Amino acid sequence: MPEPIVDIQNVTFKYAGSSAPAIVDVSLQIKRGEVVLVTGASGSGKSTFCRLLNGLIPHFYEGEFSGCVFINGVDTRTIPVYVLSKDVGLVFQNPDNQLVSLSVEREIAFGLENLGLPREEIIKRTEFILKYFGLDRLRDVPPYKLSGGEKQRTALAAVVAMRPLLLVLDEPTAELDPMSALQLALMLSQLREMETTIVIVEHRLDVFTPLATRILVFSEGQLVRDGPPEEVLFDSNLSSLGVSTPRVVQLQLKLEELGIKLPIKALTVSSLVDQLSSAVSSLDLR
Ligand SMILES: Nc1ncnc2c1ncn2[C@@H]1O[C@H](COP(=O)(O)OP(=O)(O)OP(=O)(O)O)[C@@H](O)[C@H]1O
Ligand SMILES: [Mg+2]
Repeated sequence: MPEPIVDIQNVTFKYAGSSAPAIVDVSLQIKRGEVVLVTGASGSGKSTFCRLLNGLIPHFYEGEFSGCVFINGVDTRTIPVYVLSKDVGLVFQNPDNQLVSLSVEREIAFGLENLGLPREEIIKRTEFILKYFGLDRLRDVPPYKLSGGEKQRTALAAVVAMRPLLLVLDEPTAELDPMSALQLALMLSQLREMETTIVIVEHRLDVFTPLATRILVFSEGQLVRDGPPEEVLFDSNLSSLGVSTPRVVQLQLKLEELGIKLPIKALTVSSLVDQLSSAVSSLDLR
């Protein structure tokens, strides 16, 4: 069995000065190629969970830490954050905090230079990534002149160029308009096809559920749901955990209340339409 990319064992963490822990006895494993969507009410511990993955906890944030986090088999307590950052690539809510270079092209090359890669490899990877993320025509543009969506795409491209084992995104669409959020989701679904392991914290479940293989729900620091989207989202108690159920799921729950149960749980509008039309065509309407 290959080693899981993430192995969290009974982790509890309380920030210094806080009265209650932000993460309470969490255990889970994430395997290569999983796309894990993390959700839960504000303050439930999602960002703290991300900080466990990149080693900022326990290295940077002071507090009481117990349990173990292994990234690709290595205990995060035993390696510094800058070493871990080669394996765990982070994309933040606000790309302005992440973009440091004078052009889109330089932004992508910058991380690769920091990895100490040979010049030819840096050029090859930069060219590939510029095309892959549709950033070719913006290569000479300084980040401050980009739109919010283009900035976030550049931040994601720069991280993906470094080929991390795990990509962690903490509310990457929080500052984006709906169209740019959708474009980011499309980019991530392409990465999913490349077997990239992704952890993404998001409230926009409508947009991101179609690419998730698994959903985690946090409540008051505890991991209260963990399973495939069909299982987690069709739980009618989800709203009590501060999670807004995707509209396509809400509609099916309503239909179920009316006694109409579809054979397959649809997670996208198109699959719901397919099922409804086959259900209707099987009715004898004469
Ligand atoms: N740097 C910090 N110092 C002290 N307490 C913190 C710190 N960061 C977060 N907390 C506390 O830890 C708990 C979990 O916070 P966290 O930021 O992980 O939640 P979240 O689910 O990411 O929330 P949001 O949806 O608002 O981003 C909250 O009670 C929060 O107040
Ligand atoms: Mg947060």
